[in-house]
Amino acid sequence: MDKYIVTGGKRLAGQVDIHGSKNAVLPILAAAVLVDGQSVIRNCPDISDTRCSIAILRHLGCAVDYDGKTLVVDASTASGVALPEEAVSKMRSSIIFAGALLGRFGEVDSAFPGGCLLGGRPINLHLEGFRKMGVVFEESSDRIDGKVSKLRGTQIDLTFPSVGATQNLMLAAVLAEGTTVITGVAKEPEVVDLQNFLRASGADVSGAGSSMIVVNGVKRLNSAEYTIMPDRIVAGTYLVAGAITGGHIRLNNVNRRDIYPATYALSKMGVDLWSEGDGLVLKANGRLEAIKNLITRPHPGFPTDLQAQFSALLCLAKGRSVVEENLFEARHAHLEELTKMGANIKIEDGSRFTIDGVSGLQGTDVVAKDLRGGAALVLAGLTADGVTTVHNACYVKRGYVDIAGDLQSLGADIRLVRS
Ligand code: EPZ
Repeated sequence: MDKYIVTGGKRLAGQVDIHGSKNAVLPILAAAVLVDGQSVIRNCPDISDTRCSIAILRHLGCAVDYDGKTLVVDASTASGVALPEEAVSKMRSSIIFAGALLGRFGEVDSAFPGGCLLGGRPINLHLEGFRKMGVVFEESSDRIDGKVSKLRGTQIDLTFPSVGATQNLMLAAVLAEGTTVITGVAKEPEVVDLQNFLRASGADVSGAGSSMIVVNGVKRLNSAEYTIMPDRIVAGTYLVAGAITGGHIRLNNVNRRDIYPATYALSKMGVDLWSEGDGLVLKANGRLEAIKNLITRPHPGFPTDLQAQFSALLCLAKGRSVVEENLFEARHAHLEELTKMGANIKIEDGSRFTIDGVSGLQGTDVVAKDLRGGAALVLAGLTADGVTTVHNACYVKRGYVDIAGDLQSLGADIRLVRS
């Protein structure tokens, strides 16, 4: 298994480009199945989840070309409705293809996406919405076999602003008969990016970013070109890298509005941030204040996908921080590993923990158990005394094209060792 070897103590300096968003590209690749023609998707990050999505597209009969940046999908030859078992077990977000398959072919056949370390990851909101649009699912505990002659527009009131359910129902609605109104939707920027792609392809969808999305079904979607938004979680991760090392860095292409919750939290900790052209500059100034209550919430609240990275940073803040993880019932595997490095953390229950800042962390062997937890351990290694080895680098490579290369370009002493 690959691992990162990090030698701490280097203050980061310089500038870095932020690659395309993992959580925007996955639903947009699913949306390409709805297009009876070619979609050209630019700024597509070369991460393992993109490669997994390409395998699914090809399994469904699409022609796919990818040069590591621009991905061209021709779905005119698509005919399959079954998601490959291996892909679903490797990447639970494969379920995002269900809405597109139901919309294009009126059928989907998939294994149930399991839970993961973060929690049970149920998909009840997805299935309830599909049923309201006329889909009939075979009763089965481990498969999702759904059929519908023609999806019907209707009103769907989400009881929780699930990102995946919002996106899946948007995809099912764009070719449905009539109008679909979805209330209580997720407002994440990646939902807006999906809407932008769908509109570029000729769909009639509006409201993304607000609490209600309205879709008027159209007959077909046309070929289009689209550029994926920068990854706001990668951007937030690199801002923490600058802050945790007492550095001075510039992110070259980031939408500041998308990461406002993270920049606000960093400012509260005493870090200086300012916009410079289309870039964002961070300058740490030697002290980090604790955050009395870092609470993750659906957007525009503090993003759960930055909780682990900020938890690493708070290990070095002056005073006691309290973190509340409200999106996933078990997003705390990184805390045990940070404790091995000398962090002073107390888990009160699965979703609330206190972090008492320490003067420094010690490098040691730690194990990544999920994507963002693994990134947090890399960040902790940047500041720890000595060498930190982060095992299971494969998790981190799901969401970061080349975190080692990016951090090296900012002066970090880090390398990826394949084994
Ligand atoms: C998306 O996951 C992201 N993944 C996650 O990023 C992110 O953490 C999450 O949204 C929240 O922002 C992708 O976009 C590929 P949810 P998703 O449905 O859609 C409950 C990362 O690190 N829920 O908003 O699966 C669920 O149990 C990943 O990049 C239901 O109860 O998230 C969870 O507690 C991790 N029923 C909460 O909602 C449902 O039908 C949030 O889930 C669906 C969800």
